[in-house]
Amino acid sequence: RRIVVTAGPTREAVDPVRFLSNRSSGKMGVAIAEAAWRRGAEVTLIAGPLSVPEPKGMPVVHVETTAEMARAVSEALSTADVLVMAAAPADFRPAAPATTKIKKASAPASLVLAPTQDILASTVADRRVGAIVVGFALETNDAVRGGRAKLDAKALDMVVVNDATERGAGFGVDTNRVTLLSKGGPDEELPLMSKHDVADAILDRVGALLAARRAPTPPATPTRRR
Ligand code: CTP
Repeated sequence: RRIVVTAGPTREAVDPVRFLSNRSSGKMGVAIAEAAWRRGAEVTLIAGPLSVPEPKGMPVVHVETTAEMARAVSEALSTADVLVMAAAPADFRPAAPATTKIKKASAPASLVLAPTQDILASTVADRRVGAIVVGFALETNDAVRGGRAKLDAKALDMVVVNDATERGAGFGVDTNRVTLLSKGGPDEELPLMSKHDVADAILDRVGALLAARRAPTPPATPTRRR
């Protein structure tokens, strides 16, 4: 099975020496890529600038901006059975990055931002028929409701919800406490566990979704005509 995993933040240039980004370390995405690799999948990791060591043995596509990550995902999707978007792409970029370093004396009082492309939403057409697509939802309040909204809005098979304000969950730490949501399935609230164990739980669910998708539809029960 071919799986594409994204990890880490992206960076959007303010000028040649400064950028906007976020606190994503890439730990969760790297753990998923490694777990999939251990299970024998053919893995492609698409990584923004990571704060953790890169996994060995699998191809890694390095990207910096959200637009670059979108391009890499779109290219990899044509042959992917599974896409797991564990990355935290920047949602906004400076509308007009300066081509030379902005000097303190002439710094603007505010930055004009423009939205970046939503990678999951904008690559729906690039997905293979039957591919399983997993998104993450990082929320700070009413996490499950926010996650359910993303399941529909981004046409996902599964959403991994976590609350960034909860102790031991979210950016930078080695643990996570997530709830897995899928279309038509029950919410699966997992206890606080290592990101490696969360990765395995996610892949177990992905495996079940793939198997269900592959299973032949049972013949319709004949109905007696009157
Ligand atoms: N994502 C994406 N493209 C973006 C931003 C996010 O594909 N430009 C993906 C993330 O990788 C994640 C999912 O969308 O799998 C949800 O990301 P999140 O930051 O929680 O949500 P947003 O869509 O950015 O919405 P909001 O910030 O309003 O909650």
